[in-house]
Amino acid sequence: MKKPLTPNQALQLINHGPTILVTVLGDRGPNIITLAWSTPVSIRPPLLAISVAPSRYSHNLILNSGEFVINVPNASLLKQVHLCGTISGRNRDKFRETGLTQIPASKVQAPLIGECIGHIECKLHAHYTAGDHTIFIGEVLGGSVNEDLYDGHLITEKVEGETLHHLGGNAYAIAGRRVYAR
Ligand SMILES: Cc1cc2nc3c(=O)[nH]c(=O)nc-3n(C[C@H](O)[C@H](O)[C@H](O)COP(=O)(O)O)c2cc1C
Repeated sequence: MKKPLTPNQALQLINHGPTILVTVLGDRGPNIITLAWSTPVSIRPPLLAISVAPSRYSHNLILNSGEFVINVPNASLLKQVHLCGTISGRNRDKFRETGLTQIPASKVQAPLIGECIGHIECKLHAHYTAGDHTIFIGEVLGGSVNEDLYDGHLITEKVEGETLHHLGGNAYAIAGRRVYAR
């Protein structure tokens, strides 16, 4: 079961910068791209940014479809995360090769990845060239999260709530312990 979130609650799912799987629709079906570079950028309206190189197959799919979904994987999906970041949807079907499950989104046509723990559904709001990447600004239309992993924040101390943080190359850190500032 997925718990619906407001757009601003959904933005918080990526406050701490987990490696994400972005789904986007193309002519031949949906593709998945692994991204380390994403961040919330505005509260009103709720906006986030992802940085995608024009050489990626997903780049023009985002431009042409005008929408995308950010899916937050947990650490158990390390193999699938790395595969989706090292092969291209131009000549490979990443849903088929990873065995990941498509489930319908509520606000956009691109699918959610069922095995991921959180989802942010976005409409393309603007895009800017930044050096050798394009910054896509997404307006958050909605979000959802596994309800057993959310109590107002992502429950990162449960093993299923542990997210992956890209250190470079094939190295990742796993986030876990939750602490509070006093
Ligand atoms: C952990 C990880 C993080 C990545 N982060 C980004 C990123 O932020 N931006 C980007 O353009 N590519 C990034 N990549 C590279 C793309 O995921 C990779 O080139 C992918 O194969 C492109 O898929 P596509 O051609 O199907 O779109 C990352 C790869 C990995 C493994």
